[in-house]
Amino acid sequence: MPKIAFLGAGRMASAIVDGLLAQKICPPEDLACADGGDGTAAALAARTRVNAPAGLSALLASADTIVLACKPQQLGGLDPRVAELTAGKLVLSILAGKRLARLAQVFPRARNIVRAMPNTPGQIGAGITAWCSLHLLVRADRATVDAILGALGTELSVTEPQLDAVTGLSGSGPAYVFEFAGSLRDAGVAAGLPRDIAWKLALETILGSARLMARTGTEPETLRDQVTSPNGTTYAGLQRLAARDFRGLIKETVLAATARSEELSRD
Ligand SMILES: NC(=O)c1ccc[n+]([C@@H]2O[C@H](COP(=O)([O-])OP(=O)(O)OC[C@H]3O[C@@H](n4cnc5c(N)ncnc54)[C@H](OP(=O)(O)O)[C@@H]3O)[C@@H](O)[C@H]2O)c1
Repeated sequence: MPKIAFLGAGRMASAIVDGLLAQKICPPEDLACADGGDGTAAALAARTRVNAPAGLSALLASADTIVLACKPQQLGGLDPRVAELTAGKLVLSILAGKRLARLAQVFPRARNIVRAMPNTPGQIGAGITAWCSLHLLVRADRATVDAILGALGTELSVTEPQLDAVTGLSGSGPAYVFEFAGSLRDAGVAAGLPRDIAWKLALETILGSARLMARTGTEPETLRDQVTSPNGTTYAGLQRLAARDFRGLIKETVLAATARSEELSRD
């Protein structure tokens, strides 16, 4: 693995560093990070023994691959010397809504640029990240991208125009699941259960159902039908979901998030 420098040392950078170290993909001395001045790099370095050199040149000079992991709104505030200091290097951005064309303005001399959209379960190595690249990745760079994004969980390549829909589905998707989980818990309370018991039932139902879908590879509609007996309890519940057009609502939700991603990616 090449040496990797992180511009940003917050939640996502930490998750990638943790994954790379836990999977023994590289030793801490091959990783380095910098922050915007609030001490996150020093904290990450103290916890994981990765480097946190003072100064941008020291950070970028010895690295072959740069992971851009600051907030999207902090992109414009990066030290302009990054343009020269990333010449000939691979740049991997996880910034939401920042297109390859915009990244290419900030890193005009990078040998290639990858734009990735991770999601929050990546913080525990259970995420899914979709990514696209400016130019076709050479084999070695593809392996580097696979390793870095693999530290967050599963990864897959898409085209750049698909990334807005990816954002609407898997990028924002954890929030829909969290909202569903909270709704299920509250509904259990409304049905007469204590809150802690309702929460445990809701959480384990979601976890178990997700595992069952993943393990069997069976379509969710088939699994749904298998637990639905005619005029039974599940049937009564599903009738209510259908009456309120649950599927239509979820479709609207993903389309709204996709449209917002398109809007935010325009600048
Ligand atoms: N969280 C997610 O699940 C998720 C999902 C999809 C995409 N993303 C993307 O991941 C990126 C990082 O998110 P996060 O949650 O990890 O953010 P975060 O915890 O706020 O971390 C941001 C990091 O960037 C650093 N930073 C700020 N200005 C900088 C500069 N000029 N140069 C170098 N570093 C600078 C901050 O340092 P200081 O605070 O110490 O100044 C901090 O270490 C975002 O762009 C977001 O769009 C996150």
